[in-house]
Amino acid sequence: MSGVSVMKAANDTRVGWIGLGKMGTPMAANLLAAGHAITVYNRSAARADALVEKGAALAPSVAALARDCAIVISMVSDDAALQGITLDAGGVFEAATPGMVFIDMSTVSPALSERIAAAASAKGIHYLRAPVSGSTTTAAAGALTILASGPKDAYERCLPLLQAMGKKLYYLGPAEQARYLKVAINMMLGVTAGMLGEALALGERGGVEWAQMIEVINNSVVGSPLLAYKAEMLTTRNFAPMFTASQMAKDFDLALEAGRDANVPMPLAAVSRQFLGAMIASGRGELDFFAYVTMLEELAGLKPVGSHG
Ligand SMILES: NC(=O)c1ccc[n+]([C@@H]2O[C@H](COP(=O)([O-])OP(=O)(O)OC[C@H]3O[C@@H](n4cnc5c(N)ncnc54)[C@H](OP(=O)(O)O)[C@@H]3O)[C@@H](O)[C@H]2O)c1
Repeated sequence: MSGVSVMKAANDTRVGWIGLGKMGTPMAANLLAAGHAITVYNRSAARADALVEKGAALAPSVAALARDCAIVISMVSDDAALQGITLDAGGVFEAATPGMVFIDMSTVSPALSERIAAAASAKGIHYLRAPVSGSTTTAAAGALTILASGPKDAYERCLPLLQAMGKKLYYLGPAEQARYLKVAINMMLGVTAGMLGEALALGERGGVEWAQMIEVINNSVVGSPLLAYKAEMLTTRNFAPMFTASQMAKDFDLALEAGRDANVPMPLAAVSRQFLGAMIASGRGELDFFAYVTMLEELAGLKPVGSHG
């Protein structure tokens, strides 16, 4: 961004953090643990208590936080939430001073991200897109994979912050590259969960023992880090969410919208989105998206309708 210098080194600078949900809380906690001074804001104020107890300052509003912090990071649910805390009245951009670095780590659409980039450019704000791949447990371990795009100088200045949250960091380009790749990866996660659910239902119908089937699939040529990491959830049939079916449905909408805008056909993703809708309609929206298999078991007559586990 010409004419505007990036702020001083990230680790000397007060960092504002917006969004203390399942992911934002452990990520912000890792910044604190790495010695960064942070000020936090969450729409539901009580969710900030844990971070404040650990030493974070509390901002009464997004605007107050943006006025006080040279670097602001957000981790919120979706497009509506990100638009609300950035472009809308009372958002970061209204209160920001030129030169601020704004990093959004949420999973949102390339289209909204482009609008934010335009607003950032008009205001002299350095805007980094830094969505993450991983889960609540990898977030807690500071081991996320971070996909970044945007101004490279801001990325390099903010590396100490990103390194406190992630183990694998990728700089992908100057614009929406990180947004596209993030939704593409999540689309593959969802389709994988669907395929696995169908495979498990078929194996179950064929009399294969449940735990053994999961172990063998994991050790077969289709085994993957994803399946290894979901093996215990599947074996114990405890679908307490790391990432809910509703969240996955949102990410499919982002991918399908991006594909539609660019005329990239994605028929497998389109069909999988229908089944995510059925998960929500059948009461599984707040279960982990790998609970997909339980719906397949019902459809196949292997389990009574409404069993969910
Ligand atoms: N969970 C995962 O495994 C995972 C992995 C990778 C990426 N992600 C992505 O990371 C992002 C956050 O996910 P999460 O699991 O942490 O979600 P979450 O637990 O539902 O937290 C969402 C956060 O967004 C805030 N928020 C929602 N709507 C808002 C609004 N209109 N204005 C201001 N704040 C708002 C919430 O505030 P309140 O507390 O007030 O509701 C909360 O702080 C999502 O984009 C998700 O797709 C999640």
